[in-house]
Amino acid sequence: MSSKKILDLDTIVLNDEQNEVVIIDQTLLPNELKYLHLKTLNDFWDAIYHLKVRGAPAIGIAAAYGVYLGVKNSLANTYEKFYEEFTKAKEYLASSRPTAVNLFWALDRMEKVVVNNKNKELEGIKKLLKEEADKIKEEDIWVNKSIGEYGLSLLKPGWGILTHCNAGQLATAKYGTALAPIYLGHEKGYNFKVFADETRPLLQGARLTTYELLMAGIDVTLICDNMASIVMKNGWIQAVLVGCDRVAANGDTANKIGTSGVAILAHNYGIPFYVCAPTSTIDMNCKTGNEIPIEERKPEEVTEKWFNKRMAPEGVRVYNPAFDVTDAKFITAIITEYGIAHPPFEESLKKIFEIKQQKQKNKI
Ligand code: MRU
Repeated sequence: MSSKKILDLDTIVLNDEQNEVVIIDQTLLPNELKYLHLKTLNDFWDAIYHLKVRGAPAIGIAAAYGVYLGVKNSLANTYEKFYEEFTKAKEYLASSRPTAVNLFWALDRMEKVVVNNKNKELEGIKKLLKEEADKIKEEDIWVNKSIGEYGLSLLKPGWGILTHCNAGQLATAKYGTALAPIYLGHEKGYNFKVFADETRPLLQGARLTTYELLMAGIDVTLICDNMASIVMKNGWIQAVLVGCDRVAANGDTANKIGTSGVAILAHNYGIPFYVCAPTSTIDMNCKTGNEIPIEERKPEEVTEKWFNKRMAPEGVRVYNPAFDVTDAKFITAIITEYGIAHPPFEESLKKIFEIKQQKQKNKI
């Protein structure tokens, strides 16, 4: 394990002189902390698709830098030609994964820069694209810190907290979303006892969440996904904190496969279930969870990956959805950087966006 502190690990760094973005290859953790240098659009697409960079906010940041580098050295000599190249790059990166809305949100922000500065020199537009990608990354840091502070206000020292998948430092520019309250609480001596679901089939919980929390010196216990019920029944869990990939306007929330089952269990045992959601992950254009596209991934992730030998019969049909949707009725609250939304979410999420608009207008 690296001797560096987890919150000091750089997850996504632009090296503009070298025309590259440096990321941690999350597929190799926890055994190897290796940095990857992404240069071409193909490198970015591959890194996102294969989960070398993963987690909704990190995917958005990587795509923003990817599309910037994709057109940075464009030889286009007219705006129309440049915009055509930009659109091609944007659409290519947008095809890498379908569920996390941050990918599309970040690429749309980048497109607005191109469109709104149509009358500028192309070199000037490229400079603005870099600044926008930097902004997307910088904003993610304060967004997560703010989610951490709001989240912490709902927790008490000594609590047992269950989390699913990895919504930590590795999935963002800093702090994570679901892990942000835990990191901030740890700094204040809260002594949380965290239970991390392993998160089949790609084991983001076992490989990444426990890696992060151990590195931070936080008390963490790894459990298989099918053990969540017993730890809840034992009285060891006082709150569940999860991240999200897309929240619909009614509060239905897509997150890593298995999240919905955890929410149903928490509801059964009367344990609060909190979704930690940057507003960039809330898609008010999606009315309900039924409209959220769910990524399906290769069968081999279930039948072969992590096993010395294939463990299921050849030819067996496999269903491998990467996400599921937790019905809003099982969610106690959605914690955003602009405050905590409670049910009914149709109203409270709208209010959150009103606050956001107001604060952005007043530059708070
Ligand atoms: O397939 P992944 O590993 O990208 O899925 C990640 C999750 O489901 C996270 O919980 C979510 O993106 C939030 S990350 C802050």
